[in-house]
Amino acid sequence: MRIVVSIGGSVLAPDLEAARVEAHAGVIDGLVAEGHEVAVVVGGGDVARRYIETARTLGATEYDLDAVGIDVTRLNARLLLAALDSPAAPEPADSHEAARASLRRGETVVMGGTVPGHTTDAVSALLAETVEADLLVYATSVAGVYSADPNEDDTAKRYDRLTPADLVDTIASIETAAGSNAPVDLLAAKVIERSGLRAVVLDGTDPERIADAVAGDFDGTEVVPDE
Ligand code: UTP
Repeated sequence: MRIVVSIGGSVLAPDLEAARVEAHAGVIDGLVAEGHEVAVVVGGGDVARRYIETARTLGATEYDLDAVGIDVTRLNARLLLAALDSPAAPEPADSHEAARASLRRGETVVMGGTVPGHTTDAVSALLAETVEADLLVYATSVAGVYSADPNEDDTAKRYDRLTPADLVDTIASIETAAGSNAPVDLLAAKVIERSGLRAVVLDGTDPERIADAVAGDFDGTEVVPDE
């Protein structure tokens, strides 16, 4: 299978702990060894948020704050690259075109953000679209897509399976609620919908769940396009 894995920064390197990055790299190497083509998009997590907060206090524009965030995602991508054994380009890919070309050369791809104005959730969905991925896995810090933000609402229930249209509606309603966070952002959901991508949203704090999801053993929310 051709797989795009989106790993949140808070999942990959919350404390810049090498063992955690190693564990994720081990799972990616395992997928490659099984014969899958894999492209990974890495987020910025709390480290990016802290940099952005400081830069905002210093008066940076929103555009420049996004650039700060992108730089942190690319730093995290470099950590994962350092830990990977599979043949990969030595630098994080800086565009979807470069990522596609690298994948076609048989390399494992690792990238962070690309341009200001969105997040790595959207970068991942756009990458899955660009390379016509069979599966897009979101390894996040929550266990799937809920009817509301489970950190804000005790009655939130997890969906096992959603259509892309239902994913868009669910994310839109979560993003409308003040202070709520969705596990995948709305732009990513819309890209998933327009291209009919198969996606899984899961808790990636244990990276083995990514391998399980690829093997068809989902513990999270599966987004399945209509036939
Ligand atoms: P993340 O993708 O980690 O953002 O990129 P996030 O969704 O806010 O983080 P999580 O998922 O909750 O942990 C960090 C920041 O980098 C900028 C944005 O400012 C984003 O918030 N960014 C990232 C871009 O502007 N463009 C990109 O392509 C990627």
